[in-house]
Amino acid sequence: MVFHEANRMKRLPPYLFTIMDELKREVVQRGGDVLDLGMGSPDQPTPKHVMDALVEATTKLEMHRYSRRDGETEKALRKAIAQWYEQRFNVQLDPETEVVPLIGSKEGVAHFYLSFLNNDDIVLVPSPTYPIHFNGVILAGGILYNMPLKPENDYKPELEKLDSHVVSRSKILVLCYPHNPTSAVADLDFFERVTRWARDKNIIVGHDNAYSDIVFGNYKAPSFLQAKGARKVGIEFHTISKSYNMAGWRLGFAVGNAEILRILEKTKSYVDFGIFRGVQYAAIAALTGPQDCVTETVKTYEKRMNVFVNGLNSIGWEIPRPKATFYVWAHIPLKFSALTSLEFARLMVEETGVVCAPGTGFGEYGEGFVRFALVTGEERLLEAVKRIKEFLSIRA
Ligand SMILES: Cc1ncc(COP(=O)(O)O)c(C=O)c1O
Repeated sequence: MVFHEANRMKRLPPYLFTIMDELKREVVQRGGDVLDLGMGSPDQPTPKHVMDALVEATTKLEMHRYSRRDGETEKALRKAIAQWYEQRFNVQLDPETEVVPLIGSKEGVAHFYLSFLNNDDIVLVPSPTYPIHFNGVILAGGILYNMPLKPENDYKPELEKLDSHVVSRSKILVLCYPHNPTSAVADLDFFERVTRWARDKNIIVGHDNAYSDIVFGNYKAPSFLQAKGARKVGIEFHTISKSYNMAGWRLGFAVGNAEILRILEKTKSYVDFGIFRGVQYAAIAALTGPQDCVTETVKTYEKRMNVFVNGLNSIGWEIPRPKATFYVWAHIPLKFSALTSLEFARLMVEETGVVCAPGTGFGEYGEGFVRFALVTGEERLLEAVKRIKEFLSIRA
C-alpha cells in the first residue's frame, strides 16, 4: 500500500532541527564532543516546590480523571493565571471568560489558526520567527504571508507598507516580543500602534509573550494586553516552559478577548482533553508560589549572555547585547557570506562540535543569520567561544 500525506503537509518546510540532530549524531559517532546551543530547551531544573506539588497531586484520585472545564483544579488554575497577570502586568482578567489553559503555547497557536482560518485567509507572520507561527498556518490550510523583520527596523514589521490587497485578505497578525529568534523587544507604544492598525483593518492579533520574564537590566517586557483597546482585537499566548523551566510539562495559556478565546476553546474541546490535573496543580504552585526561582533563572541567563556575547565580540564576531530571551542572533561572519545559514551551521558543527540553529529554520528572512540558545553553563559557553575562535581563524 502507498501512503500519501495530505497536500498541506507537502507545503511544510523541512524541520531544520532534524538535520542538525543528524549532524550531531555524526559528531558523536566520530567520538567528538557536541556543544549543543541549537534548541531553546531550558537546561535548569524545575523549582523544587513545583515538583513537590506534582508528587502530592499524584496521590489524589481526582487528579487522574479527565480534565473538565468546571473542575476544581481547572477553576483554580484559571484563577491563578488571572492573578499572575494582574501581579506581572497590572492587567485584570476574568478567569472564566478571558483565560484558556493550553497544552503548551505551541499547541495553542496551532489551534488558534485552526479556529479561524478558511482556505483563502492570509496570516501576516513575521519572518524570521518561532516555527509554529508559520507552520501552524500551513497546517490549518491558510495562506502564509511573511513580513520581513530587519535589523534596521529593530526587527519590527512595517505594517503601513504592507500591500493593501494582502491586508484586505488577512485575518490574523502574529507577533512575538521579546522575540524568538532575534531577541528584539517591543514597548507599549508599539503595541498601541499595532492595536489601532489591527482595529482599523479588522485583523485579529495573536501576541506570543513566551519570554516576558527572561529580561535583563532595567528592561521590563510589557504585555500586549496593557495596550489600550488590545483586548478588543486580540489574545496573548504565554507559557510556564521558560519562566519556570517546565518545557516538558506542557502547560501554557491564552488570555484576552473572550470571544476569540471561546472559539479557541471550542476547537480544543473537539481535539483534546485538556492538561493532566497533576500538571495543572503544579502550575498553580509555580504561578502563585515564591517567585525568587524566576529571578535566579534570569540571573543565570544574564550571566551566560554576558559571557557569550563578550566572548564573541572579543574574537571579532560582533553581536549587539540582547535585552531579553536566552538567544543570540548572529549575522554570519563576512568571510562565510557565500554560505547559506544551513551550510555555515553544518560546517561549524562538523569542525567544532558547536551546534547552532540555522536562521532559515525560522523562515526565509532568517537567511544570513544563525541562532545560539544559551542552554548550557558558563564554562561550556567559554569552551564554545574558544572553538569558534579557532574555527574562524583557521578559515581566514
Ligand atoms: C516564542 C515561543 N513561543 C512558544 C514556544 C513554545 O512554548 P510551549 O512550551 O509553551 O509550547 C516557544 C518555545 O521555544 C517559543 O520560543
